Amino acid sequence: TYPVITIDGPSGAGKGTLSLLLAKQYGFHLLDSGAIYRLGALAAKLLDVNIDDESAVANICQYLDVEFEPTESGVAVILNGQDVSQSLRTEEIGMMASTIAAYPSVREALVERQRSFARNPGLIADGRDMGTTIFPNANAKIFLTAGAEDRAKRRYNQLMEAGCEADYSQILADIEQRDLNDAGRAVSPLAPADDALLIDSSTMGIDEVCQTVVSHLQS
Ligand code: CDP
Repeated sequence: TYPVITIDGPSGAGKGTLSLLLAKQYGFHLLDSGAIYRLGALAAKLLDVNIDDESAVANICQYLDVEFEPTESGVAVILNGQDVSQSLRTEEIGMMASTIAAYPSVREALVERQRSFARNPGLIADGRDMGTTIFPNANAKIFLTAGAEDRAKRRYNQLMEAGCEADYSQILADIEQRDLNDAGRAVSPLAPADDALLIDSSTMGIDEVCQTVVSHLQS
């Protein structure tokens, strides 16, 4: 088996940026598990499947035809041969992802797909339950958090930089709603693994967070 480093935490804590930096630094593969839930939501939407129909959505998630291709700026997500990276990032799909992520059969359908990312020479796994459910035997576990307002500000800036429309108060409300969904679901609720290193990034820049993680990994 190959080394696995898990990065869990709530919406907008900076897991994505940190994971990408670590994946580059160590030359490891990257699992953006949130993108997989977003893909399930997008696929359901494209197929006109009712998001409230748990078994239909789980079925779609089981058979997703998806590939992840590394690019300069991150990873391109290819669904049924089409690059859907942009459509995945919208708030609408984020909220739908949060809804379907609460379905036990959807989570179950995606377990093996996520585990299959653990390949030579190693993996950085970004999500909510990487260290608790998907990779309980990971070599190192990080739980990255920050205050809701700090996370909303970052998400807002990200969207603006990407040239998307953004409404700060809506983003904050969405983040708070997602926190509630993530913490309150029956299966794999958001919580740090017992052996995770907790980092509060509210007042830390990404470089400081990355430094903290790298020194932890070296210790
Ligand atoms: O960070 P953000 O909430 O914007 O999105 P994400 O990380 O792309 O994940 C989208 C949604 O999928 C989250 O709101 C979570 O509810 C869910 N998710 C999950 O339940 N488990 C994971 N391992 C990753 C994401």
